[in-house]
Amino acid sequence: MKIQIINGPNLNLLGTREPGIYGSTSFDDYLSTLRQRYPNIEIAYYQSNIEGELINKLQEVGFSADGIVLNAGAYTHTSIALHDCIRSLKAPVIEVHISNVHTREEFRHHSFISSACRGVICGFGLDSYRLAIEAISCQ
Ligand code: DQA
Repeated sequence: MKIQIINGPNLNLLGTREPGIYGSTSFDDYLSTLRQRYPNIEIAYYQSNIEGELINKLQEVGFSADGIVLNAGAYTHTSIALHDCIRSLKAPVIEVHISNVHTREEFRHHSFISSACRGVICGFGLDSYRLAIEAISCQ
């Protein structure tokens, strides 16, 4: 089974970015523990701060991966282009957020991508990614 994790803008700064909200673990460190936990799943990782590059990656893997775990960061709340892209793919996409966006500023309460995704997991810290992998591997 192959699962693609895609992180959007500013998520390359995990570990140092607002640790009170996003924790103090870097994504590279978290990814190693995730890969150790799921040795039979090929977990590929991509991060970009650029909306079009996220779309290119989704189109590239969206017909071959068994599932995609997408944290679109702030593009979640702005991007109809990501919504359209996700709808075009064969692979199920799980929307994840580290923080519980519904307890934060109102502009984070709306997601343009949720309705195009198979499901949404938010608010469990980095464990949100593991829960998304569980969801894909149980399908
Ligand atoms: C986030 C929540 C978004 O509102 C924010 O813009 C992010 C991170 C999260 O993982 O909690 O960049 O997607």
